[in-house]
Amino acid sequence: MDPKWVYVKDFKKHIDQTVEFRGWVWNKRSSGKIAFLQLRDGTGFIQGIAEKKNFDDETFENIRKIKMESSIILQGTIKKDERSPENVELHITSFKKIQEPIEDYPISKKEHGIDFLMENRHLWIRSRRQFHILKIRNEILKAIRDFYNQNDFTLIDTPIFTGSIGESAGNTFKLDYFDYGEVYLAQTGQLYLEAAAMSFGKVYNLGPTFRSEKSKTRRHLIEFWMNEAEVAFYKHEDNIKLQENLVSFIMQRVLENASDDLKEIGRDTNKLQKIKPPFERMTYTQAIDFLKKKGFEIEWGEDFGADEESALASQFEKPLFVEKYPRKAKAFYMQPDETNPDVVLCDDLLAPEGYGEIIGGSERIWEESVLMDRLKEFNLPLDQYQWYIDLRKFGSVPHSGFGLGVERTVAWICGLEHIREAIPFARTLYRVYP
Ligand code: 4AD
Repeated sequence: MDPKWVYVKDFKKHIDQTVEFRGWVWNKRSSGKIAFLQLRDGTGFIQGIAEKKNFDDETFENIRKIKMESSIILQGTIKKDERSPENVELHITSFKKIQEPIEDYPISKKEHGIDFLMENRHLWIRSRRQFHILKIRNEILKAIRDFYNQNDFTLIDTPIFTGSIGESAGNTFKLDYFDYGEVYLAQTGQLYLEAAAMSFGKVYNLGPTFRSEKSKTRRHLIEFWMNEAEVAFYKHEDNIKLQENLVSFIMQRVLENASDDLKEIGRDTNKLQKIKPPFERMTYTQAIDFLKKKGFEIEWGEDFGADEESALASQFEKPLFVEKYPRKAKAFYMQPDETNPDVVLCDDLLAPEGYGEIIGGSERIWEESVLMDRLKEFNLPLDQYQWYIDLRKFGSVPHSGFGLGVERTVAWICGLEHIREAIPFARTLYRVYP
């Protein structure tokens, strides 16, 4: 009987058993009578050992000379070995090549420039560090879904083609849509979630969003994933609590389920363990005072750039909520503060260690007359918002929500220098291939 195909992640459960391995060689070395193959199969990394005495000369030569990234099927016995990084090794008894690379594999151990690596992203995702980062991303996305499922939210998939601009008109991707003419790629699903919240109470989405931003920074993508939530009857304070709980839940999950991945990429988990409620809080006005004292040239009414955000957040080990921004600096749909109508009931959540804004949220305007005033103030075409205005006519209630940037969160949790590694295939200003 042929040995059973076992994934590397389960090797520890099969010590001293003969199994089949299916995967790739990502590195190798040999010393005369022994060949060491570094293997991967998508679930983990393991060392395979082939001894000359167990093979005929030709097969052993094939093993010894196998090229990086060859695909192979092996049979062998799993042995405990405390010296190997994974504590187990595969002692190879049978070897079958599926395909040996036709050319030399372009990504070697030597340092490559980032442009070269991004050009070869389709292959770069096989590299160990990229593998672990994308595994952590996977865990973050799983945690997001679990959080909402455990808290009785309904998933509402919001459209990608939209007729109504959800954020600012300045950075939309425009497309020609049959008889309608110009429509946009979604910058946010928020307006649709607001409609759904009036049916389901607690709703969320998770999907790609698009911003035609000519900013070439380490925090901006053109296509990025956003998780948004919207809850009927939630006020500003409830909204803050929900965001705090979500981010803490994600962090705990990643620490529980992906600590090996974090270790592999050299992330200091002590810092991450401190991410528990309550987070830090500051009003926009307090933030401006702080920045002025630090020597920043910024006036009340202006939005923060990356440097300002870093200065604010780096005072603390936990994420920082900056709340109640000037009405004029924020989007049209935000509810003015009753006690000071110049500011709105919104918050930006700034991650520690200089990773910037990971969440933007607010209480929404729920009264028709207030919304009409704001749409006019922002010069928005009322006909495109008729359905959104409608929501304020039929049993409207106060409601709140937010959007969490998935890649910004991944970049922070993984400690990445640049957001382009936080998504499998980044779309940036200068890149749509691969
Ligand atoms: O603050 P933003 O623009 O908020 C909204 O779109 C709201 N409609 C969300 C809501 O209330 N339902 O974006 C939300 C988050 C930001 O905090 C940031 O983390 C991320 O999305 N983000 C980006 N991430 C990567 N690249 C970009 N160009 C991003 N723009 C925003």
